[in-house]
Amino acid sequence: MYEIKLKDLFPKDQYLISEAERAMKTAYNPYSNFFVGAAIRTMYGAIFSASNVENAAYGSTICAERSALVKANSLRQRLFEKLALIGKGKDFESENIISPCGSCRQMLYEFSSLNDKPLEIIMCNTRKDKIMVATIDELLPIAFGPRQLGFDIQKLRNS
Ligand code: THU
Repeated sequence: MYEIKLKDLFPKDQYLISEAERAMKTAYNPYSNFFVGAAIRTMYGAIFSASNVENAAYGSTICAERSALVKANSLRQRLFEKLALIGKGKDFESENIISPCGSCRQMLYEFSSLNDKPLEIIMCNTRKDKIMVATIDELLPIAFGPRQLGFDIQKLRNS
């Protein structure tokens, strides 16, 4: 896990952040007024972005990260390289970085398990003057995943 300046990121990672930022504006968030955007890049370079979608039954809310994952999966894209995450309040820019909630970490871990390299997550504040990069293994250590259930990852990847 490390902190990095925006200008020191690869242009394609800066672009991933801008896609997350663009998606953030589409949040359906009447209950929290909190905007989250996620953009995930596959091993082949395709980007899937999404925002949080809330519900009157609050627990039915889906986070931006999980929305981006299911959007990618709907095109059978499951091998990811990087995810950018950004978030802010309705009336305030975020001073601190946004990091994935526990449920999102678990679901990101599932897809990361299908790949040879752990997924990297770029977390930023909306001023983009605070950026942290961490692998999913760092965000969810000693995780429970398909390996624990005895799955052959190769087979799972092709399922
Ligand atoms: N939220 C996300 O979209 N991703 C996270 O990882 C944390 C929380 C959303 C859910 C809810 O719509 C709002 O932020 C406040 O919790």
